[in-house]
Amino acid sequence: MRVIIALVVGLLAGSLGGIKVYQSLSAGKEVPHAVMWMMGYHMGELGDAIKGDQCSPAMVSAHIDTLARVAADIEPVFLPIGDDLDALFVDHADALQASIESMRSATGTGCEALAAARKTASEACKGCHRDFR
Ligand code: HEC
Repeated sequence: MRVIIALVVGLLAGSLGGIKVYQSLSAGKEVPHAVMWMMGYHMGELGDAIKGDQCSPAMVSAHIDTLARVAADIEPVFLPIGDDLDALFVDHADALQASIESMRSATGTGCEALAAARKTASEACKGCHRDFR
């Protein structure tokens, strides 16, 4: 009996500890991490461009393009999660993609609009991490 209670308590604690994301098996263990680190790199480069007031298309377009391509990998690489959580996950991924498109539209208009769109993108990153990481 004691073992069973310990087991149930353990399972409960485990499930309360956070939502475990079950990654797509075909993507392997490294790919979900790689997707995230690549996005982190390109977000960082865009942040540096903004800080340095270097927001010409030549400086930022390649980063935005790659960010968009890698962000498009989030859903196939992470889903399905199951437990009715996929829809919420997709909402966060879509919010990120929309903000990356805003960055694309802001390209060529200087740093200000790009910085605002990048901030929205960064909030999309945080929103998903809050719920799923
Ligand atoms: C739709 C959900 C979602 C969005 C949007 C998202 N992430 Fe993540 N991110 C995750 C999850 C889930 C993990 C935890 C992955 C794991 O531990 O297996 C994670 C982990 C990470 C990590 C740590 C990687 C590692 O090796 O554990 C970094 C860095 C990261 N994200 C950066 C970003 C950046 C930058 C953005 C926005 C450009 C972003 N993420 C947007 C879901 C998301």
